Formats: sequence, structure tokens, C-alpha cells
Amino acid sequence: MLEIRLQKFLAHAGIASRRKAEEMIKQGRVAVNNVIVENMGVTVSSNDVVTVDGVPVITEEKKVYIMLNKPVGFVSTSKDQFGRPTVIDLVKDVEMRIYPVGRLDYDTSGLILLTNDGDFTYRLTHPKHEINKVYEAVISGFPKDNEIKRFEAGLKIEDYQTSPAKFLVLDKQGVNTLVRITIHEGKNRQVRKMCEAIGHKVLTLKRIQIGPIALGNLPEGKWRHLSDNEIKTLY
Ligand code: URA
Repeated sequence: MLEIRLQKFLAHAGIASRRKAEEMIKQGRVAVNNVIVENMGVTVSSNDVVTVDGVPVITEEKKVYIMLNKPVGFVSTSKDQFGRPTVIDLVKDVEMRIYPVGRLDYDTSGLILLTNDGDFTYRLTHPKHEINKVYEAVISGFPKDNEIKRFEAGLKIEDYQTSPAKFLVLDKQGVNTLVRITIHEGKNRQVRKMCEAIGHKVLTLKRIQIGPIALGNLPEGKWRHLSDNEIKTLY
């Protein structure tokens, strides 16, 4: 847990400027875990209870928004019952407890967002917001026009009727085809099941975009903070 100087902690919490906070400490108005602080070098973490004139200082945890290029072979939950590596293992140096926004399969790579902002997660994952997710897939064979039409119109996977989607052929790769697929739902293994429903197996799957946020050239296994502008456009 990050330790910071008490005066900085008070300033971050919006109690006073650092200089004013130092004065408050000197005046004996600040306590840490019920003990009045008498010298200036004290550091605190979010585990400590800080009070000013006996009133607890409430700090709101800083919100973080991260994009990761997930490699195949990582689960997108915080913990895995089988002990497999998780996307959280790839995001080092972040003090806050962050969670993946939605899921990518173990065998899917590409863009996944992580945050400690529950409201943001809700907005992005609730089906009513219909946020487009764009995938590139290599599928077996070469899809026919009527299959693409069925895919785009929406089809039945198990008991679920999928919404209209987009399906674009990008390249023929030997006996396989590289395609770009856009859906706004997030049913379990949905892209794989939709492709299978039109007779083509997904060989590789990578997510390249969520709403306006594109993976770009972020290397596999690497992460970065979203820019303020990216966060704004998602909201
Ligand atoms: N659709 C899938 O089939 N798998 C994913 O990981 C994401 C979407």
C-alpha cells in the first residue's frame, strides 16, 4: 500500500494546501489512528484513519482507467480457480485494486479495459448501452454471401437471438479468411458461436476496438492509461 506524507495526504483529500496542512499538524489538530501527530515526517496509507479536529478525513480512491493488449493464455477475471495467469498479473505498478471491464476468452487476445470505477464498468457492460465491439478473426473456409447476410441479420445461437451485426471480409489466407466482425452484445463466446452457426470455425480471435477506443499499436502484453479524452468519449 502506498505511503505518503501526511501533509500531502491532507492536501489530496482537499482539506487544505500542503503548507496549511503543515500548520494544522503543528497546531496538534491532526491525528493518525487516534494519536495526535507531533512531527512532520509521518507517512500514512489508505489503511490509516486520519482525523482533523477529531473529524475523519474521507479520501476517495483515485479512479484509474487502463487498456491492456491481452495475449492468449490469460484469463480475464481477477482470480482463476485453476491458477492460470490473469490479466491483473500483466498490470504491474498500479496501486489501486482494478477489475477487468467485461470478459475476453482465455483463447482470445486484444483490447480489454481495466478500472476501479464501478459506474464506468456498468455503463460499458450493460446491454442497453449497445457499445460496439470490433473483432478480427481468422475463420476456416471462405464465407458465402448468404452466410454473411445471415450473420449480419442476426441468428440463433443456442436459445439466443443475436442482434444485427457487421461482417466484413478483409483477406483470404490460404484456405482460411480474415474477417472483421462488429457486435454490441457480449454473450459467452458469442463471436465463435455466431461464426460456427454459419459453418465457419474461429481459428484466432482478437478484439481491436470497444466503442471509440481502439487498441492501435499497443504491443501484446502491454498496458497504458486511457487519456482524459478517451475516458470522456466513453462516457
Ligand atoms: N466473442 C467470443 O467468442 N470470445 C470473446 O472472447 C469475445 C467475444
